[in-house]
Amino acid sequence: MTDFNEHTITQAVLKSFSATPDPRLRAILASLVHHLHDFIRDIEPSFAEWQAAIDFLTRTGQMCSDTRQEFILLSDTLGASMLVDAINHRMPEGATETTVLGPFFVEKRPDVPNGADVSAGRPGEKLLVQGSVRAAGGGPLPGATIDIWHSDDDGYYDVQRGDLDTASGRARLRTNADGKFWFWTIHPAFYPIPHDGPVGELLRATERHPYRPAHVHFMIAAPGYEELVTHVFVAGDPYLDSDAVFGVKQSLIADYAHCPPGTAPDGTRMDQPWRHLSYDFGLKPLAAALQTGAAA
Ligand code: BEZ
Ligand code: FE
Repeated sequence: MTDFNEHTITQAVLKSFSATPDPRLRAILASLVHHLHDFIRDIEPSFAEWQAAIDFLTRTGQMCSDTRQEFILLSDTLGASMLVDAINHRMPEGATETTVLGPFFVEKRPDVPNGADVSAGRPGEKLLVQGSVRAAGGGPLPGATIDIWHSDDDGYYDVQRGDLDTASGRARLRTNADGKFWFWTIHPAFYPIPHDGPVGELLRATERHPYRPAHVHFMIAAPGYEELVTHVFVAGDPYLDSDAVFGVKQSLIADYAHCPPGTAPDGTRMDQPWRHLSYDFGLKPLAAALQTGAAA
């Protein structure tokens, strides 16, 4: 194995991996080598450019900590996260579409009953979220767990605010006997993804903005069903068509209706205007993974 040139080196590297015992790892490495070498032949980088690429990835790794994952952010902004999501969530009729998890989910969140106000007194327009959880093509799912988290009126998650030691805009609740749930919070705002690191540099160099349209995150679980990770976006948001992480789907855009003072559907008396979101979720039965995964 000597004297490789720009045309013969790919076969040599492929051959070096050909005895990999795990067939999946062998296939992944073969595809990686093919695509990487074709990419290099395509762009013909100078040494300075290759060094800049290595430096970018090094700084991306150095930016990672317990609370910051710059590689996932890079994957998100390159559309790779949503591509992996799409491949892994070929949904049957009636199942809610999925989107990215994002970096602001945390295990520590309060369990609250239906009807609770989860805003922890933060300022903003009051929002009533009501919905149901059903099996895709089936009946209501009582006892499903629903994690919700969202940005505040200024576009920050509670975990981004050093001044907050209690959760706000973040909670876990359960559907009632009819598969329904509801809670009060404040209307979320659009916000920028973290852009003070290498990913932000990339966005600036390419004249892309870092914004995500306003949304509430939902993570819904019930025994026998695939966990659903999704958001419900605010209709009319200026960033719906240019989400920095390519996460918007039309089926996930909903009206956060403007409502005048009066009595809300849960009986709460509102003396200020408020907003109302109503959204029904469908979960994919675990068995459906076997039927739809291979076929699509
Ligand atoms: C989020 O929606 O919380 C999010 C998703 C991807 C990157 C940054 C934030
Ligand atoms: Fe978010």
